[in-house]
Amino acid sequence: MALLPILRYPDPRLHKKAAPIAVVDAQIRKLAADMAETMYNAPGIGLAATQVDRHIRLIVIDITEDQSQLQVFINPELLEKSGECEGDEGCLSVPGIYETIKRAAQIKVRALGLDGQAFELAADGLLAVCIQHEMDHLEGRVFVDYLSRLKQNRIKAKLAKQGRAM
Ligand code: NI
Repeated sequence: MALLPILRYPDPRLHKKAAPIAVVDAQIRKLAADMAETMYNAPGIGLAATQVDRHIRLIVIDITEDQSQLQVFINPELLEKSGECEGDEGCLSVPGIYETIKRAAQIKVRALGLDGQAFELAADGLLAVCIQHEMDHLEGRVFVDYLSRLKQNRIKAKLAKQGRAM
């Protein structure tokens, strides 16, 4: 396994739309394992392939504190969404920034697993938010895109300053 470099906002590659995965093969499984390691190392609770500059529809998520429940979503599709919730979100591509974002409270998603088999999952709470956040990445959307232009510029300035300090 290997740690992968994570793109940082406002890298324009974060705005690329990801392509569907045709076959779940050994290369995809290797990428998913590397993404999981990268996410755990960061540490974070979700990572989309877009964030490691691979523009294919693959997401890894683990919202447990002891990193014990890795979930992999390949070609995820939102089947249903309902309700509304607001919570603070962060992103490994936008380090140190947390902002309140509105999301659907309950969702139902269909995806392929690492075995290539389709599955459906109903989620609410943090998992629902996390899935929506990561699926946005596959569309080339970062959570800060939902904020006002003023806030976005402030975040860009803050990250640029952090980048220079590194
Ligand atoms: Ni993110």
